[in-house]
Amino acid sequence: MQYKEIHFDEIDSTNTYLKNTYRLLDNFTFASTDYQSHGKGRNDRIWNSDKGENLMFSFLIKDEPLLKLAPIISLLSAVEVAKALETYKIKDVSIKWPNDVIIGDKKVCGILAEGELPNYLVVGIGINVNQKVFPEGLRRPATSIYNVLNKEISISELKEKLFPSIVNNLINLDSNNYLEYFRNHNYLLNRRVRVLVNNEIFIGEVIGIDDNFCLQILSHDILLHIDSGEIEIL
Ligand code: BTN
Repeated sequence: MQYKEIHFDEIDSTNTYLKNTYRLLDNFTFASTDYQSHGKGRNDRIWNSDKGENLMFSFLIKDEPLLKLAPIISLLSAVEVAKALETYKIKDVSIKWPNDVIIGDKKVCGILAEGELPNYLVVGIGINVNQKVFPEGLRRPATSIYNVLNKEISISELKEKLFPSIVNNLINLDSNNYLEYFRNHNYLLNRRVRVLVNNEIFIGEVIGIDDNFCLQILSHDILLHIDSGEIEIL
């Protein structure tokens, strides 16, 4: 499968690295690390991860047809992670639109896509693998594969499952396959939520995912199709 991997023992952030060097690198270059000194989360949050315990990586997209996936790349990546987790026989894996992977009610993976279209897109993924203890007071309680299975798993084995699968499935895109998986693993389904879109607040019940991967919310009998925004469960 056509991809390249660079591994760092330590780096500021794999997203930052690919953003700064994208001109020099090929499409589907993966940068992974054991430790990030300035790991980035969504909405300018910090992504902390104990050294050597978790899988942190980013991949670069530069090819024009793939850049068209920008609006849904986080969701597609979340599906890839969720499917990889299920290969470890983990139950109750779901995806919290737009880009968190959840086990039970706890977050196991976060995804941050950044870029500058039409030049490049960087998708950064942090998966809690063998970390046992998480700080208190996180916005959403966290878990790890270890905490669910009660056994350590190999980070390199997880990489070997995930990287080729991401590359293969994005190149040979089958949107219906992704949609079907997502619809069957939609953490927000039937939940009452508040969403902030362009400074407008909407409250309603999540009734599904439309064919464009937008979140469908029924709000006062009006069906909303949300393509981006921060979701809060009520
Ligand atoms: C979130 O849930 O807020 C997104 C977290 C994304 C974290 C990953 S770890 C690898 C990559 N490098 C970063 O600095 N962030 C992403």
